[in-house]
Amino acid sequence: MENIVIAIDGTSASGKSTTSRALAKRLEYVYVDTGAMYRTLAWYCLKTGVDVNNEKAVASTCRKWKTRLACIDNHVQLLVDGYFPEKEIRTEETSGAVPHVAAVPKVRDWMKSTQRDCIKFGNLVMEGRDIGSNIFPETDFKFYLDASLSVRSKRREAEGVNENLAARDQRDSQRKAAPLMVPLGAIPIDNSDKTIDEVCDFIIEKMEGISGKPALA
Ligand code: DC
Repeated sequence: MENIVIAIDGTSASGKSTTSRALAKRLEYVYVDTGAMYRTLAWYCLKTGVDVNNEKAVASTCRKWKTRLACIDNHVQLLVDGYFPEKEIRTEETSGAVPHVAAVPKVRDWMKSTQRDCIKFGNLVMEGRDIGSNIFPETDFKFYLDASLSVRSKRREAEGVNENLAARDQRDSQRKAAPLMVPLGAIPIDNSDKTIDEVCDFIIEKMEGISGKPALA
């Protein structure tokens, strides 16, 4: 039987990661953080001295790096030379570099085939910016999370990060390759005043309505 993909797209700090992890746990699906894959490439470029503003060099690095997908405790990890740089991909330096590598079309092609390959691990909750529009456009289960700018800024502040989210949203939405957008057929969810559990309940209810079947694996 074909495995199921729940596509969770949305703006920065819209609660995609927290919601996707909780949803995957409840449904016993596999969680895939596609942002972590872009971050891993950005970290690897920095580590190996590749200029992230040099599109050709970044594309060439992405073509040659030695990676492997692993599924550990129902979370997919992209390993580089057998290593998952869990902490390194969250530094400010990596965060600053990642939009540059994410804008390279050849990188996005590589990511697409790698991310589609994750289906071999089982039913997926996959979060990102272009999952419903570009990676798995054929899935029936697409959701787009958002919250007011003030709520999202507060969430980032609580994580100890001071970031211009409006600028990041604008950059993600205006880039040429796979810009951030509400995918066709996606159900928008404003979670400004909702708990994680309420959002998960809503997604599961919608999924079951669409498929006519229980969502639990
Ligand atoms: O979700 P995040 O902050 O970890 O994402 C890191 C960066 O990667 C962010 O600038 C947007 C980009 N990204 C993307 O372009 N497409 C995705 N599917 C996931 C992330």
